[in-house]
Amino acid sequence: MAEKIREKRKGLSLRLWQRDLAIDLGTTNTIIYMPQKGIVLEEPSVVAVRNGSVVAVGKKAYRMLGRTPPGVTAVKPVRSGVIADFELTRKMLDHFISRVLRRYPFLRIRMVITVPYGITQVERRAVFAAGKRAGVKETYLIEEPVAAAIGSGLPVAEPRGSFIVNCGGGVTEIAVISLGGIVLGSSLPQGGETIDEAIQRYIYRKYRLEIGLSTVEEAKKEALYAADPPADLTYTFRGINLYRRTPDSLEVSAAELHEVIGPQLSALAGAVRSIFERMPPQLAADVIQDGIVLCGGGSLLHNLDIYLSREINLPVRRVEDPFTCVVRGASESLKFLHALSLPDR
Ligand SMILES: Nc1ncnc2c1ncn2[C@@H]1O[C@H](COP(=O)(O)OP(=O)(O)O)[C@@H](O)[C@H]1O
Ligand SMILES: [Mg+2]
Repeated sequence: MAEKIREKRKGLSLRLWQRDLAIDLGTTNTIIYMPQKGIVLEEPSVVAVRNGSVVAVGKKAYRMLGRTPPGVTAVKPVRSGVIADFELTRKMLDHFISRVLRRYPFLRIRMVITVPYGITQVERRAVFAAGKRAGVKETYLIEEPVAAAIGSGLPVAEPRGSFIVNCGGGVTEIAVISLGGIVLGSSLPQGGETIDEAIQRYIYRKYRLEIGLSTVEEAKKEALYAADPPADLTYTFRGINLYRRTPDSLEVSAAELHEVIGPQLSALAGAVRSIFERMPPQLAADVIQDGIVLCGGGSLLHNLDIYLSREINLPVRRVEDPFTCVVRGASESLKFLHALSLPDR
């Protein structure tokens, strides 16, 4: 009896002292979420380095991109869905985690980190080590599309096929999930950032106007459409005219901008189609019924849902919170660790 009470007390005190932490390690942004608090950190996944040592992380490092003084380089350690630089990824995570945990020095932390679909064992270990180093007791890893599907409210733990497309900055992940795991998936090395770069390159080559990436980002939000660009919409770019070497502006129609991303859009549609080619008929039946779900910041591209649904001939919908659904899903996954095959080391 006494034993039982002691056990119960132990469970209770563990719960009182335990907090969950979920980290979405993205190519563009890193987000940290705590169930009772919501989003506790949101920073660009950027590290500034001088002579091999880190001088700034996150927002501060992001501001240095493109305007670094000599000797300082701003690096994105997670690129195209791979952990391009282990050591910097570890340092960046360590920095973000410590910043959050400073506020909770006495708590026992259970943490889950999202990793890109299809990363190697070596990359997994690097992320895992970052958690351990930051003094976290239990660390789990979850593949981003699985977290995205949980965050989107899809029935991931059931024997039913759910089709999710997670549109990130440097990577687009496509996955069919059933019984808590990825049955079929692929990862395209393109996303919101490669779209920005394509537009920047186009304006440079065709009009000899040099524009910054933050200008492109703004143009994208205002005037870039994946389908049906409004006929009278234009965007005025401001930059440097390379012939005259003076500041200049240039008006471009939404229809012309739409043309520029044609190849990236067809690559996406092609990748989704090739998943259907490999899909067992039973799963295909589920997906035909439920449709395709879009998430990730890149899914905010105007009319991306309309474009895909025309190409694939299925209903496509975007989740309500494309930016945070991955991190919320990761946090949620800690509740049913037993049902998911979370590789934890
Ligand atoms: N309104 C918008 N329209 C189109 N793209 C957007 C919009 N808002 C953000 N994005 C894009 O979303 C991308 C970041 O999405 P996110 O899910 O945070 O990526 P990751 O998970 O790879 O860090 C950026 O490339 C950004 O340009
Ligand atoms: Mg992401």
